[in-house]
Amino acid sequence: MKSEMKEAGTITVNLDGETHDFPLYKGTDGPAVFDIRSLYKQTGAFTFDPGFTSTASCESKITYIDGEKGVLLYRGYPIDQLAEQSDFLEVAYLLLNGELPDRGERERFDTSITRHTMVHEQLKNFYSGFRRDAHPMAIMVGVVGALSAFYHDSTDINDPKQRLVAIHRMIAKMPTIAAMAYKYSIGQAFIFPRNDLDYTSNFMRMCFKVKAEDYEVNKVLSDALDKIFILHMDHEQNASTSTVRLAGSSGANPFACIAAGIASLWGPAHGGANEAALNMLEEIGTMDRIPEYIKRAKDKSDPFRLMGFGHRVYKNYDPRATVMRKACHEVLDALGVREEPLLQVAMELERIALEDEYFVDKKLYPNIDFYSGITLRALGFPTDMFTVLFALARTVGWIAQWSEMIEDPGQKIGRPRQIYTGPALRDYMPLHKRRLEPTDV
Ligand code: SDX
Repeated sequence: MKSEMKEAGTITVNLDGETHDFPLYKGTDGPAVFDIRSLYKQTGAFTFDPGFTSTASCESKITYIDGEKGVLLYRGYPIDQLAEQSDFLEVAYLLLNGELPDRGERERFDTSITRHTMVHEQLKNFYSGFRRDAHPMAIMVGVVGALSAFYHDSTDINDPKQRLVAIHRMIAKMPTIAAMAYKYSIGQAFIFPRNDLDYTSNFMRMCFKVKAEDYEVNKVLSDALDKIFILHMDHEQNASTSTVRLAGSSGANPFACIAAGIASLWGPAHGGANEAALNMLEEIGTMDRIPEYIKRAKDKSDPFRLMGFGHRVYKNYDPRATVMRKACHEVLDALGVREEPLLQVAMELERIALEDEYFVDKKLYPNIDFYSGITLRALGFPTDMFTVLFALARTVGWIAQWSEMIEDPGQKIGRPRQIYTGPALRDYMPLHKRRLEPTDV
């Protein structure tokens, strides 16, 4: 990937009576960056930015977010247009290659993904090692991490051909692995993928078909899920994507990097929020209990947070939440469960939160996870599968960002530093000379 940052001036740092200049760069859009790669060499000082709230970790051409304006673009295309007009594999092609495919490119890509949806027969043995009540995300981390043990022929990251095979295998096998995790957790037989179904219909069938009877995919529902997958596909340098990049920067194989991303996504502050948001709505239960939870969310001494609200970047509405909310209503209408009590609670909670000055002042708006839980539950998925579905979709973003990093000529192993405030140098103290405890005498 060729750098396309444009010089936009310099900043001067005065330290210990010396001045140091650092270049300022601008990109296509969004905040400029100060290039401080030589800061330590020139000044002997580090920057300090826990949580990386003001740090750009890389140059990327894949996704652009404007948190103030509520903008999300995949390779320049607005997320709502892609969700409404495209489909999962076309958007996957776009994220991987930078352009929408022509007819031939699309057919070749679909064929390649379809031909990789099956998993090695012995991979099934991994599932039987888990308890049936294992959280499906625990299974995903384990099974995806083990893929490199089965696909040695696509782990050489310096071989572009092997990288392409690994990328297609990862995208193709995630639905199969995820569906198997679900089937295992409910004690049902695994269902093979079918080559005559589209990506998301195939996944729904592998989840909901039972061997004893045929299963007809409801196109309205699989289209809604396909849209939900598009919304979750990538999101710039979020925690799990940064985890994948950091793991990949050491040269780890792509399967291990994706397993690291799955582990990071699992956290309730990140991808685990959809499961946590639904659990929260179920705990609230009825609209009359909403004020009690709003009060708790504002109470600093109470660890409770309103799951599905707030975002590190979006300080206005999460544009995905807008599309997610619409998809939620479409699914509930299609299923005739419009009066779903949790939806009523969710809509009332959203209304109250958006009027409450605490949430307005702190710019805490519903994020993508707020409505996804209700929708996924209506589609028939259990709560503990919600983050698995998030991981299935985000695998495309993770592998596209990993690929961009590997192809970046400036790429090097990620190795942040720290500010040390521990004990100064001191000599070892033999036990008999240490501070005596009553029990030591
Ligand atoms: C995802 O990064 C990504 O792009 C993530 C993601 C993606 O696609 O990859 O978009 C997916 O992870 C969406 C976010 C899902 N998480 C949740 O819904 C969990 C609930 N939200 C919070 O945990 C929180 O809002 C975060 C983690 C999402 C954002 O945290 P920040 O930006 O670090 O903000 P913060 O924790 O510093 O909070 C700022 C203030 C604090 O109050 P003060 O200390 O300033 O007084 O807002 C408060 C927080 O206490 N606050 C909340 C709140 N979120 C923040 N108070 C109540 N409820 C909340 N949900």
